Amino acid sequence: MSPFQLTRTLPEDATEAALRADVLHGLTRMPKELPPKWFYDARGSDLFEEITRLPEYYPTRAEREILLARADGIAAATGARTLVELGSGSSEKTRHLLDALTELESYVPVDVSESALTGAAEALLAEHPELHVHALIADFTRGLALPGTPGPRLVAFLGGTIGNLLPGERAVFLRSVRSLLAPGDALLLGTDLVKDEAVLVAAYDDAAGVTAEFNRNVLAVINRELGADFPLEHFAHVALWNAEEEWIEMRLRAREALTVKIRELDLLVPFEAGEEIRTEVSAKFRQEGVRTELADAGLKLSEWWTDGEGRFALSLSTAV
Ligand code: AVJ
Repeated sequence: MSPFQLTRTLPEDATEAALRADVLHGLTRMPKELPPKWFYDARGSDLFEEITRLPEYYPTRAEREILLARADGIAAATGARTLVELGSGSSEKTRHLLDALTELESYVPVDVSESALTGAAEALLAEHPELHVHALIADFTRGLALPGTPGPRLVAFLGGTIGNLLPGERAVFLRSVRSLLAPGDALLLGTDLVKDEAVLVAAYDDAAGVTAEFNRNVLAVINRELGADFPLEHFAHVALWNAEEEWIEMRLRAREALTVKIRELDLLVPFEAGEEIRTEVSAKFRQEGVRTELADAGLKLSEWWTDGEGRFALSLSTAV
């Protein structure tokens, strides 16, 4: 057996404290908002997996197409001996990379979900028994400390999840990624691209209603974890394209006026009829914007690969 280590940099109760703080802050401000990370309990993670298989949700398939076509190129360009994967989740796409990275010795999946990490690590170790896997339970939006693994390092942040951060948060995040790298180390970044509004909106408002259920799941998480009484069916799913910001917004709109009680916060949250909670921003990118954001963090864009339909991009950049 190869070594498998699990390091918790998040205390067990940090998740609960962070949820309380985010809900208190987000639901007492105007307009109301909740951070998207709270979608992903076990049910939410299952719903997201379902989303990735929907006909309207192209990003996962487009990114897989690029990874399959470019995995050997990524391996040749980086010669990576350590792969760090941020927000690894089920690590499904990672397989293509692990198979291609012939010099790889260490794999460091980083996720807030312990169950996702251990399940995925077990499956990967079965296929790559020589790999040293050092799983990290960590919130990578709050800074990271990596185990001492051999360079060159490749940090992968796939799925377009960087789009769930606001521009200022992206700048902080990219600088913290850069701080993990030595000159010559690389970042592999997945970004969804600006495209026709109807295609974008359909991807976040599918006909089967899976995304609507995923969106409302954040209310179920708050009900369960904080003893709240959100009536889920009183909230309508809204997905819209913000053309100025070039991002998709998901919101939950109160169908009628109501007051929600959040027992553990000792809080009453009033909603007017039609009032909305913004639950997610999913930014869409252009090459020049990505190049500039990377450069501002000390990363030089070296490769830009898109799928055949130009819907999604994988970029490789190098620490300067
Ligand atoms: C996995 C975070 C990239 O923003 O497209 C899918 C999440 N939200 N449908 C995205 C999501 C609604 C997804 N990311």
